[in-house]
Amino acid sequence: MKKIVLFASGSGSNVENIVQFFQGKSNVTIAAVLTNKRDAKVLDRCNNLKINGLYFNRTAFYETDCVLGILESLRPDLIVLAGFLWRIPLDMVQRYPDKIINIHPALLPDYGGKGMYGMRVHEAVKENGETETGITIHYVNENYDEGAIIYQAKTEVVSTDTAEDIAHKVHQLEYEHFPKIIEKLLSARAVH
Ligand code: GRF
Repeated sequence: MKKIVLFASGSGSNVENIVQFFQGKSNVTIAAVLTNKRDAKVLDRCNNLKINGLYFNRTAFYETDCVLGILESLRPDLIVLAGFLWRIPLDMVQRYPDKIINIHPALLPDYGGKGMYGMRVHEAVKENGETETGITIHYVNENYDEGAIIYQAKTEVVSTDTAEDIAHKVHQLEYEHFPKIIEKLLSARAVH
């Protein structure tokens, strides 16, 4: 049995999609969803989906080993950031080399880095008159959006698209590809 731990900060529609993808597959389990937002919608989704949803604060994440301790006890094969907005501390990155992945709603290295998240990304894509955008799934290192790229998928942007339209197209790509890439990564790994 392979175990995934998810981190999310907001709505969690990707979390829900990933959980649903793996429900009914006997070889992968979602051990927990961790969030840094006490009122994040993702916690409601966890309740509805009957999976563990845990909130932690800045102290637990950056100043003590609390979150690291939770991870140690869960022993995940893969840690998946799905709309998680805090930088991963260096000790966590070093403890889980090549085991933490993130999804970014654009074609990195473009439209990445600090402050480039959520609608800001899609608004920037629109403002610059891009004709395509997409998703990037990548390994996480100690810098925002800079780890090695695992997978990218593209979608067309037309001049009449609003930033919301672009966000919608990107979300569709995320729902289609993210669970499959997670599954692929897990099946390529030995159990720990
Ligand atoms: C997604 O667009 C993801 O690429 C980005 O944050 C968004 C999360 O959306 N990192 P949701 O919370 O899964 O709906």
